Amino acid sequence: MRRMVLLEAIEKRLLEELNPKVRLVLETGRYLIDGGGKRLRPLITMLSCGMCGGDPEGALPLGVGLEYIHAASLLHDDVVDGAKRRRGRDSANLIFGNEVAVLTGDYMYAKALHLFSTYGNMEMIRTVSQAVMEMAEAQVLELSKVGELITEEEYFQIIDGKTGVLFGACVAVGGMAGGCSDREQLYEVGLRMGRAFQLIDDLLDYAGDPEKTGKPVGNDLREGKTTYPLLSVLGSLDRERVERLLGSVEPSEEEIESLRREVLSLGGDVRTKERAVEELKRAKELLGSFPENSYKEEILRLMDFVAFREL
Ligand code: IPE
Ligand code: IPE
Ligand code: MG
Ligand code: MG
Ligand code: MG
Repeated sequence: MRRMVLLEAIEKRLLEELNPKVRLVLETGRYLIDGGGKRLRPLITMLSCGMCGGDPEGALPLGVGLEYIHAASLLHDDVVDGAKRRRGRDSANLIFGNEVAVLTGDYMYAKALHLFSTYGNMEMIRTVSQAVMEMAEAQVLELSKVGELITEEEYFQIIDGKTGVLFGACVAVGGMAGGCSDREQLYEVGLRMGRAFQLIDDLLDYAGDPEKTGKPVGNDLREGKTTYPLLSVLGSLDRERVERLLGSVEPSEEEIESLRREVLSLGGDVRTKERAVEELKRAKELLGSFPENSYKEEILRLMDFVAFREL
């Protein structure tokens, strides 16, 4: 039940630290935080700290900072993607408008840095700021490829940047707080976990239950984005048709739905899960050289959750 105890502390601190003076910033930030979310990033930060021999509580404000970075990236992502649903409710941009959503995101990024300047150290700040730079770059790279069929190499470059690096930063920061010196190896554990996490997010965009994920299916195709489920079965599809659909300004819902179903019937979902499992296997191997304890066991359980999650 260790996970529940950590989660309780995370929820409490997430609300406590969010204290802007301007009411609308507070309302917008709270709206997103109150919407729920799995809190995976603070969890792995604290667990990594525990695995490395530290008191996980010591990494709590750092984990909270990393969750604020994630929250900021969601606020911005929904503006960029024009998304209307997030965490099972209307997105913040829909309720408060794009301008307020973007600026509240800025506030949350800075709040995270503030927490790191108080509870972290320079090496952690370097790791985290590098991750945020790479996230922004990857989001722009993804945007610049909208409407195009991208290669597998480009796909992995995008998902590593938009999701992998933040997971990498979480495991590395937690480990540093716990006294581990092998930053690079910890970072790679997180990077692989984040890569698997985004692969499953992309799978859920094809095959998820919107009631569970809190967001609709088919969004990636609708937005003209190539993701792994599609790439994995591309050889069996009519390439021109795929390119036409991705490039069309307003594709019909019938076309999207028919391609989505075809990708699934060709096994795009199974292949995506297999690829995610492969990444997690490597991440688990990399954990081999770290101490065996209950925190590490919990990280291994979280990795299985990442692969088999439905939300
Ligand atoms: C959603 O992340 C955005 C991605 C990086 C795929 P999560 O699925 O972790 O979102 P919450 O925090 O649980 O809502
Ligand atoms: C999210 O990617 C990446 C970041 C928030 C940095 P997506 O655009 O796939 O996330 P969802 O599906 O909207 O949650
Ligand atoms: Mg999105
Ligand atoms: Mg996006
Ligand atoms: Mg997605």
